[in-house]
Amino acid sequence: GIKIVTIGGGSSYTPELVDGFLKRYDSLPVRELWLVDVPEGEHKMQVVAGLARRMVKRAGVPMEIHTTLDRRTALKDAEFVTTQLRVGQLQARIKDERIPISHGILGQETNGAGGLFKGLRTIPVIMDICRDMQELCPKAWLINFTNPVGMVMEGIHKYTDFHKIIGLCNVPIGMHRAIAELLGRRMDEVQVTFGGLNHMVFATKVIVDDKDVTKEVLKLWGGQSVKNIKGVVWNPDFIEELGVLPCSYHRYYYMTKEYLQEEQEKFEKHEVRAEFVKGVEEELFKLYENPSLDQKPKLLEERGGAYYSDAACNLINSIYNDKRDIQVVNTVNHGAIENFEDDEVVEVSCVITKNGPVPQKVGRLPKAVNGLIQQIKSFEAAGSAAAVTGDRKKALLALMINPLVMSQKTAEVVLEELLEAHRKYLPRF
Ligand code: G6P
Ligand code: MN
Repeated sequence: GIKIVTIGGGSSYTPELVDGFLKRYDSLPVRELWLVDVPEGEHKMQVVAGLARRMVKRAGVPMEIHTTLDRRTALKDAEFVTTQLRVGQLQARIKDERIPISHGILGQETNGAGGLFKGLRTIPVIMDICRDMQELCPKAWLINFTNPVGMVMEGIHKYTDFHKIIGLCNVPIGMHRAIAELLGRRMDEVQVTFGGLNHMVFATKVIVDDKDVTKEVLKLWGGQSVKNIKGVVWNPDFIEELGVLPCSYHRYYYMTKEYLQEEQEKFEKHEVRAEFVKGVEEELFKLYENPSLDQKPKLLEERGGAYYSDAACNLINSIYNDKRDIQVVNTVNHGAIENFEDDEVVEVSCVITKNGPVPQKVGRLPKAVNGLIQQIKSFEAAGSAAAVTGDRKKALLALMINPLVMSQKTAEVVLEELLEAHRKYLPRF
C-alpha cells in the first residue's frame, strides 16, 4: 500500500483529494493518508479527518487516515507528499487582496502584489519541507498546489538541490474540459497541447480525430472560466488573431481596468475573494462536522479549485503506474517552449512517467504573448530571489516588474504596508 502525506491537511479542499484517491483505489491503493497541519489548523484538520474517515468507510476500502502536527513523523518513508498549505491562513490572503486594492492596484493570490507576498511567505516553508523530505523520504515526489505555484517552483529549482517537485494547477484540466464541451466531445477524445506559465498558460493546439481544429476552437473561445474569475467574455477577433487560447487569469492583464473597478466595489463591501471564500469555508466546515455526511459536498464546487483532485490524483496515479499519459504540470522547461530558457520552470504538457514529467515540444509561443510571459517570468524570478534572501530591494524589483503595479510610488507604499502586515510570517525580512 502507498503512504501519502498532505501538508495543509486541514484545508477545506482535502475531501476533494480523498474523493480522488477513493475513486482510483484499484490502480492507486493508498493505504495511509497522513494529514499534517500547524496548531492554528488543528481543529479544522480534525473535522476534515472525521469526514475523510466516513468517506473511506462508505467506500469500504482499507485506507487509514492519520493526523499529526509533527511533519517529520508523517514524512518518514512517504511515497508522495502534497502541499496545499496557506501560511497565515485566509486572514493573510485577505491582506494580500485588500492592501493593494486600497492603493488602486490588483492584488491576488498569484498575481500582482498579493502574489508576491504569498510567495515571500510560502517559499521558505516549502524549502523546509524539501529539506525534510531529502532526509526522511528521499524517493518521494512532492506535488505542490500551494500558490503562487510558478514562483514557488522557480524558487525551489533555482535555490535548492531538490528536484522531485512538480507544480500543479487545475486551470489546464478545466480548459481541456471546456474545450471538449465546446466541441461536444468527451475529454478523452480531444487532445489539447498547453504551454506557458502557471496562471498564464495557453492552449496552443487542439486535435480531434487526428484533425487540427485549433482554428475552430479559437472562434468559439468566449466565456469559459474558473469559479473565482467571472464575467467578461473574450472578443473573438482578438482570440483569433492571438492564435492561442488564453486562460481565465489572463483577464487580469487584458481587462485590468474592468477588474480594478469590480475589485474596488468588492473592497468597499468587504467582499474581496478571500472574504467570500471565508464565508464559503465556514459553511463547508459546518457541513463537514455533520456526522451523517460521508461524501464531498456539492458546495465545494464553489471554490476555484473544484476538481483539482482529478489533476492531482491522475498525476500521482501516472507516476506510480508509469502510465506515460499526457498531463499538464509545472516543471523545468528543458527546451519544450522556445520562448523560455532551458532551466526556467514552465507549465506545459508532459508525458508522465515513473521518473517524473517529460515536457513535450510545444515550439514557440506567438510574438503577441512573448512580452507578457517574459515579464511574468522575470517577476517570478525576482520574487523567488526576494523570498530566499529576505532582500527588500529584490522585493521592490519584483513589484516594479509586475504589470499590475503600474507605479513606483504605489510599489513603495504597498511594499511597506504588506511587509508590516505580514511581519509575523516574514522572518527573513
Ligand atoms: C483556481 C486556481 C487555484 C486557486 C483557486 C482559488 O482554480 O487554479 O490555484 O487556488 O482557483 O480558488 P478560491 O476558491 O480559493 O478563490
Ligand atoms: Mn492554480
